[in-house]
Amino acid sequence: MNPITPAKGLKGVVVDTTKLCLIDAERGVLVYRGYDIHDLATHSNFEEVAYLLLYSKLPMRKEYECFCEQLRQNRSVPDVVVEIIERIKDAPPMDVLRTAVSALGAIDPDSGDNSSEATLRKGIKLIAQLPTIVATHERLRRGLKPVEPNPKLSHAANFLYMMRGKPPTEEEAKAIDLDLLLHAEHSSNASAFAVRVTASTLADIHAAIVAGIAALKGPLHGGAAEAVADMALEVGSPERAYEYVREKLARKERIMGFGHRVYRTEDPRARHMRELAKVLSEKSGDKRIFETLLAIEEAMKPLQSKGIYVNVDFYCGCIYYFLGIPKDMYVCMFALGRIVGWVAHALEQYNDNVLIRPLLHYDGPTNLRYIPMDER
Ligand code: SDX
Repeated sequence: MNPITPAKGLKGVVVDTTKLCLIDAERGVLVYRGYDIHDLATHSNFEEVAYLLLYSKLPMRKEYECFCEQLRQNRSVPDVVVEIIERIKDAPPMDVLRTAVSALGAIDPDSGDNSSEATLRKGIKLIAQLPTIVATHERLRRGLKPVEPNPKLSHAANFLYMMRGKPPTEEEAKAIDLDLLLHAEHSSNASAFAVRVTASTLADIHAAIVAGIAALKGPLHGGAAEAVADMALEVGSPERAYEYVREKLARKERIMGFGHRVYRTEDPRARHMRELAKVLSEKSGDKRIFETLLAIEEAMKPLQSKGIYVNVDFYCGCIYYFLGIPKDMYVCMFALGRIVGWVAHALEQYNDNVLIRPLLHYDGPTNLRYIPMDER
């Protein structure tokens, strides 16, 4: 019999088809439902891209306005969930986010209805509510009253408004909007796969999103942005970048924000993040962090021969820093964008479902005789 060679980490394994997102690993191309990410990053916004991912087409003006209104109508979070956030406000933000979504699922009036219509309705509600949860947590843990969503502001602007208590500048809102758009979807990444596995058992959308949030938290996935920020502070200046990278690689340690399971060239999202970080750092007058990141990227160039390039997470920490977002909330920013992809993956899984249940090859002992405890 041929030896079994498991595809550890499901590397290179195609588990299903999808119409959500195409990633061309060799050419560094990312497409959401047929539209190139560079076109969407240049011409679109988060709400329009969310509509595209959920409804498989770009909206007409009326459809877009109705969708934005549906998000506005659903931004608030029930008092009982705010109370839960208050009770656990000293916990890590991703744990608070995961717990709050779990609580929302427990009390949702549609919780027993897993029809496509109800699932889409609950999914859009979660897209609208996640920014409110994260902003409310930040206010409460700083001893401030939560700020109610502002219906006059866009999805991205409203997040900064609820976090700060005053509207952001147009440039800041645009920065967050682009960040959320670039994080919205990325095929079967670990968190989206966790969503699909959970949805494949026909558990409800809240359960599936809780699974996605849980998976995203890890530093090998969504947690990388915070680790990059820690690295930039540890390196301290562009002059120290080369030595830092050399020593770290010599210790066989990973440089966060680099490498990717799929891309074998630069992550196409990184160029937009790099440009945004550059603009914000120049505007702030504090170029040190950005120039340190550029120097780290330069020092990592030799690894490009192994297919290791900068990924989406490398520059976004720098963006969040200039927007005053606390470092332990960087991974939450990833979730505020990816919630759209998670909802779209859950809907895609429900609509053409087969339970996801792969095999593990057993290579332990067999035919052991049971010996009663007192005779062992
Ligand atoms: C995201 O999947 C997605 O789509 C994710 C994402 C999305 O949008 O959802 O794109 C977002 O999660 C981006 C990735 C964020 N994570 C990080 O930046 C953490 C650092 N990166 C790595 O840990 C790593 O690159 C992974 C986890 C992202 C991918 O690792 P793989 O595919 O499992 O590859 P591997 O661990 O087998 O590494 C292959 C080789 C190894 O060298 P050898 O042992 O073969 O000599 O490449 C090396 C690794 O040591 N390597 C790195 C490295 N990443 C891989 N060496 C140094 N620094 C790194 N960052």
